[in-house]
Amino acid sequence: MAFPSKFLVFIPFLVFITITPSSHSIPFIVIHGIGDQCANRGVKQFTELLTDFSGSKGHCLEIGDGTWDSWFMPLEEQTNVVCKKVKQMKELRNGYNIVGLSQGNLIARGVIEFCDGAPQVKNFISLAGPHAGTASVPLCGSGFLCLLADKLIKSEIYSDYIQAHLAPSGYLKLPNDILHYLEKCRFLPKLNNELPDERNSTYKERFTRLQNLVLIMFEHDTVLIPKETSWFGFYPDGAFKPVIRPQDTKLYTEDWIGLKALDDAGKVHYINVSGGHLGISNEDMKKHVVPFLKDQASMSDGIHSRYAEVHGSHRKIMVSHKRKQAVPLLQEKASSELVLDGTSSYRWPPSVQSFIKELLGLAED
Ligand SMILES: *[C@@H]1O[C@H](CO)[C@@H](O)[C@H](O)[C@H]1NC(C)=O
Ligand SMILES: *[C@@H]1O[C@H](CO)[C@@H](O)[C@H](O)[C@H]1NC(C)=O
Repeated sequence: MAFPSKFLVFIPFLVFITITPSSHSIPFIVIHGIGDQCANRGVKQFTELLTDFSGSKGHCLEIGDGTWDSWFMPLEEQTNVVCKKVKQMKELRNGYNIVGLSQGNLIARGVIEFCDGAPQVKNFISLAGPHAGTASVPLCGSGFLCLLADKLIKSEIYSDYIQAHLAPSGYLKLPNDILHYLEKCRFLPKLNNELPDERNSTYKERFTRLQNLVLIMFEHDTVLIPKETSWFGFYPDGAFKPVIRPQDTKLYTEDWIGLKALDDAGKVHYINVSGGHLGISNEDMKKHVVPFLKDQASMSDGIHSRYAEVHGSHRKIMVSHKRKQAVPLLQEKASSELVLDGTSSYRWPPSVQSFIKELLGLAED
């Protein structure tokens, strides 16, 4: 009775390879935003949902102690922490994807551009990243202290002290103070190869190696000023209007970091979703993030069909529908329920308020 027993062995094997689409998928890491940490429910759930939806393993990478360090550790140091971690993680050796949240996107880009000897980043999916800077101090809230702090921070933002002690100062770009920004801001000018004498072609070369760059902007983002910074759009030097389209910025036309090269190769996806800062729905996660996290074979197919809608290819859209049905059903959660609340994480926790007071010499009696 040799045949049946072989047959029985064969069936479970078949079932196994059919229902584990993740066997060839590469892992992804999530880098959270300011005022947040991997242990928080929102980021944790976000990482788990993406893992569920995509069948690829996700890891939230923590930097230092989380919330506190996200505010006060300079971004270059935060980048070094992540750089070390990704080199140590064996599971990332064959390449990985990054999902960045808000400030975490600049750290992600720092890892892509600066991290020597790191494994290859294949797809970078950026949610609400202040890629071209932000022209506003993160939300303090209202009240006298906040108004004062806002004013004082704006006047001191490019001082050595604040640059060394407040993470967001590394990407605060005040259009009416560009000279100081270029001279003193320690992170973003380097990251964006903005300094004519210090452009490093290695950063560009590494960034251009991405397979896909997904830039997700939130239509009602009031934290990033302007919200178009999520697409590398920003104000002109010297004025707070109008917002310049990414394709019309010098970073793009002179191609300082390879954004244009990537775009010319059809690898940049500019996505516009409804919602406030980081307020992405499950629906939009599935539509714009998940396809890039799936395993390579299904990925190229899935992505082409997804974005074929723009070019009006009906055949490809049908492929996309078929593929959707082939994916095992995942447990659905209410798609209107938002996992992340990016606006509240940008509000100053008490520890930040007291730090700022000390910083400004406003310590209360
Ligand atoms: C450019 O960056 C690379 C990678 O960090 C570094 O090895 C190299 O020395 C830099 N080149 C210059 C001219 O600074
Ligand atoms: C984003 O989408 C909204 C609604 O679909 C639209 O009104 C708005 O013009 C879009 N913005 C950009 C920059 O494409």
